[in-house]
Amino acid sequence: MYAITINAPGGPEVLTWTEVPDEEPAAGEVLVEVAAGAVNRADLMQRQGFYPPPPGASPYPGLEVSGRIARLGPGVSGWAVGDEVCALLAGGGYAEYVRVPVGQLLPVPRGIGLVESAALPEVATTVWSNVFMVAHLRPGESFLVHGGAGGIGTMAIQLAKAVGARVFTTVGSPEKAAVCRELGADVAIDYRTEDFVARIAEETGGSGVDVILDNMGAKYLARNIDALAVNGRLVIIGMQGGRKAEIDLSALLNKRAAVAATTLRSRPLAEKAAIVAAVREHVWPLIAAGRVRPVVDRIVPMREAADAHRLLESSGHVGKVVLSVGEEPGTTPPGTAAP
Ligand SMILES: NC(=O)c1ccc[n+]([C@@H]2O[C@H](COP(=O)([O-])OP(=O)(O)OC[C@H]3O[C@@H](n4cnc5c(N)ncnc54)[C@H](OP(=O)(O)O)[C@@H]3O)[C@@H](O)[C@H]2O)c1
Repeated sequence: MYAITINAPGGPEVLTWTEVPDEEPAAGEVLVEVAAGAVNRADLMQRQGFYPPPPGASPYPGLEVSGRIARLGPGVSGWAVGDEVCALLAGGGYAEYVRVPVGQLLPVPRGIGLVESAALPEVATTVWSNVFMVAHLRPGESFLVHGGAGGIGTMAIQLAKAVGARVFTTVGSPEKAAVCRELGADVAIDYRTEDFVARIAEETGGSGVDVILDNMGAKYLARNIDALAVNGRLVIIGMQGGRKAEIDLSALLNKRAAVAATTLRSRPLAEKAAIVAAVREHVWPLIAAGRVRPVVDRIVPMREAADAHRLLESSGHVGKVVLSVGEEPGTTPPGTAAP
């Protein structure tokens, strides 16, 4: 089989479509013939040598795929060869075949194409587990997601809106603000020209937001706590703005606020399976009903993964960039992927 390999840590040019040994599913796994994968920020870090695969994971990048089950490993039931699936991975998605633990398989949601469905597993599991299982966002509460036009952001806006929250987001341009409002954001704040803390204070009558999903880490830590409401919950999932910061704990104490930080990739299989099951129960029906959709910026041939990495690095995308193995590359206008 062929896979994208990383010859040595470096720029996008180190991603090479290479012949590699075939994969065999172990007990409790299936082998998926990949139709498409999708790009995540973590893949960029792995390529640069900053985010090595966890022990036992494939050395190839790729945290999610869609495709058809090609083979069942020993002890697998409930799935059949030929089933169309998408899957959450600890690695190995930039390849023609990938081994997947059964607990990380999802059926392709009703109404979604096989290739487009590769854009769903990572964002659906990350947003559901953090915003709903950790921060317990409830109907009627307010929610801020930073980077609303990114992969995580486009899913977070839609899910928070679907459960009846008031949704705030930050974006890097007026065009991206428009996409976020179309997805359901009530307030889109341009982080290049506006102070999000002041704008949230203004919009909420000074009370702040109940839940924040943060991708920036250190750079926004103090400001996020300022923007939180009493009993607010901040969940940090990214460190795009650095990993070390100082905060005034009295701000947290006075607000009785909570700060959590999580990562999905290195969690035990049982935890990932529980998250995947919760996503199937709560998110998949919203997708099947057309209330939540994958936002696919474009579909790039997987062998040209380097171009997809350049696009993410320049923040030139909206939503997800999908890597197609077959003959289905093409472009959909930002924010308008088929529901
Ligand atoms: N912990 C986990 O388990 C987990 C899982 C998945 C993803 N993540 C993290 O979640 C983050 C988003 O991932 P993604 O796949 O959605 O990546 P992405 O599509 O590349 O999105 C990155 C976003 O960051 C935004 N951004 C850049 N500078 C910003 C700033 N100063 N203020 C606010 N937003 C800013 C960009 O906004 P503009 O394009 O509008 O400039 C863009 O929307 C990444 O940090 C990733 O590592 C974590």
